[in-house]
Amino acid sequence: MKVTSKIKLPVEREMELFEKKFTQSMSSNVPLLNRITHFIVNRKGKQMRPMFVFLAAKLCAEGSVNERTYRGASVIELIHTATLVHDDVVDDSNRRRGFFSINALWKNKIAVLVGDYLLSKGLLLSIDNDDFDLLRIISVAVREMSEGELLQIEKARKLDITEDVYYEIIRQKTATLIAACCSLGAASVRPASEDVEKMRRFGELIGMAFQIKDDLFDYGEEKIGKPTGIDIKEQKMTLPLIHVLNKASKEDKAWLINSIKNHNKDRKRVRQVIDYVKKHGGLDYATAQMKDFQLQALELLRTYPESEYRQSLELMVNYVIERKK
Ligand code: IPE
Ligand code: IPE
Ligand code: MG
Ligand code: MG
Repeated sequence: MKVTSKIKLPVEREMELFEKKFTQSMSSNVPLLNRITHFIVNRKGKQMRPMFVFLAAKLCAEGSVNERTYRGASVIELIHTATLVHDDVVDDSNRRRGFFSINALWKNKIAVLVGDYLLSKGLLLSIDNDDFDLLRIISVAVREMSEGELLQIEKARKLDITEDVYYEIIRQKTATLIAACCSLGAASVRPASEDVEKMRRFGELIGMAFQIKDDLFDYGEEKIGKPTGIDIKEQKMTLPLIHVLNKASKEDKAWLINSIKNHNKDRKRVRQVIDYVKKHGGLDYATAQMKDFQLQALELLRTYPESEYRQSLELMVNYVIERKK
C-alpha cells in the first residue's frame, strides 16, 4: 500500500465528506468565479492540511470528530488555496499543481480578486456558524502569513537575511498554517484543553520541516508540478544559500551576492550559483536542519498514547520529508 493511502486510512470517510463540503463552500453565482473555482477543485493538491485537522482531532478525542472539525478543515483549505493563488502573483509563477496557475490563465487582476474571495468565504464559514474560537486560530495564522511574506520581500531587497530570520520567515509564512490545522483540529473536539497548544507546537515543527523541504525542491531537477530554480531569480535566499554564504570566503561571498543582486535573471549565472551551493554542502546542511525539526515533531507525538491516529501522524511527519512533490 502506498504510504499516502496508509496515512489516509483512519480518516478516509472524513476526507471524502470533506471534499464535498469543500467544493460547496466555494460556489458562487458569478459565472466567471464559478468557472475558476471549478478549475481549482479539479486540480486539488495533496490536501495535507485537512488531513492534519482530522488526524489531530481524532488523536485528541479517541477517534471522534464533529461538524466543527469539518468546517475547520474547509476553512483551512480555503485559506491555503487563497494564499497559493496570491503567492503565484507575488512570485510571478506560471505553474501550480502540474498546470497553469490562475494568474497565468486569467492574469493578476483576477487572481488577486479570486484569492480575496476564497479568503472571505473561509472566514464567513466560521462566522456563520459561531466558531469564534476556531476563527481566532485561523485569523492569527492569516495575519502571520502576510507578515512572513512581507518580511521575506524585505529581506530579498536588502539581501541581508540570516539563518534566524529565515526560520522566522518560514515559521510565519508556512508553519503557522500547519500549526493552525493541528491546534484547530484539537480545539474542534477539546476546546480550551492543553491539547490545543501542544498540537499547535507539533504543527509548527512539522511546518518548519515542510517549508525547508519545499525550498530544497527549488534546487532540484525533479518535476514537482510547479517551477524549480525560481527562488534565486526572485532574489529569495533560502537555507541552502544562507548556509554557504555564512561559510564562504570574502571573495566568494561578494560573487554570490553580486550574482543574486545583478545577474539573477541570467540563467547561466543562476546555474553557477546553484552548483556552488550544492558543492559547498548547502543542501546537506538544510536537509540536516529539516531532520532536526522532524525529530522534535516525532518526540512530541510520542507523548500521546499509541493509536492508529498517532501512527498516521508519524507517517505524515516522515512523508513531509520524503515526499516527491
Ligand atoms: C505549498 O503547499 C505551499 C507551501 C507552503 C510550500 P502544498 O505543497 O501543501 O501545496 P498543495 O496544496 O499540495 O498544492
Ligand atoms: C509558500 O511560499 C506559500 C505560502 C506560504 C503563501 P513559496 O512561494 O515558497 O511556495 P511555493 O513554492 O510557490 O509553493
Ligand atoms: Mg512565495
Ligand atoms: Mg511561490
